[in-house]
Amino acid sequence: MINAKLLQLVVDASNDGIVIAEQEGEDNILIYANPAFERLTGYTLDDILYQDCRFLQGDDRDQPGIEAIRAAVKNNQPCRQTLRNYRRDGSQFWNELSITPVFNEADNLTYFIGIQKDVSTEVQASKRVLELEAEVEQLRQQLEALKSKT
Ligand SMILES: Cc1cc2nc3c(=O)[nH]c(=O)nc-3n(C[C@H](O)[C@H](O)[C@H](O)COP(=O)(O)O)c2cc1C
Repeated sequence: MINAKLLQLVVDASNDGIVIAEQEGEDNILIYANPAFERLTGYTLDDILYQDCRFLQGDDRDQPGIEAIRAAVKNNQPCRQTLRNYRRDGSQFWNELSITPVFNEADNLTYFIGIQKDVSTEVQASKRVLELEAEVEQLRQQLEALKSKT
């Protein structure tokens, strides 16, 4: 069995954010965040301890992914969604968030684990691909129009 100290080193070494939250009423409040979460968001664990992670959404709450997360969390189910989130300095990043419920032996929910992966580069790249595809399509149509005139 791998010991707790080694597992702690793994969590510390992760490039993705890893948090643990516990249920308190309607909220899931943070009781742990690893160094990568602090680097990604610009918040220290002390800043955000006992807060629900929704603060990372700022005022940008009208996102389909948030609805899906709300439903999964309500039903103690795992989920993965990509959301717009905001760092402490206000800058935006795309967060591919994976949430996993943790149950005790009596099958009661004890915690949720959250993993935050910054996918901003991938999201920007796929947006650019869509733009370029639209441009290519426009050029193709212009070419067709020219051809039909000649
Ligand atoms: C363990 C865990 C980690 C979460 N991490 C994030 C996060 O990094 N960014 C985010 O926008 N929401 C995160 N959430 C989702 C929000 O806490 C909240 O569940 C979501 O906004 C839907 O609920 P609401 O509509 O009440 O805000 C996390 C939730 C859990 C349980």
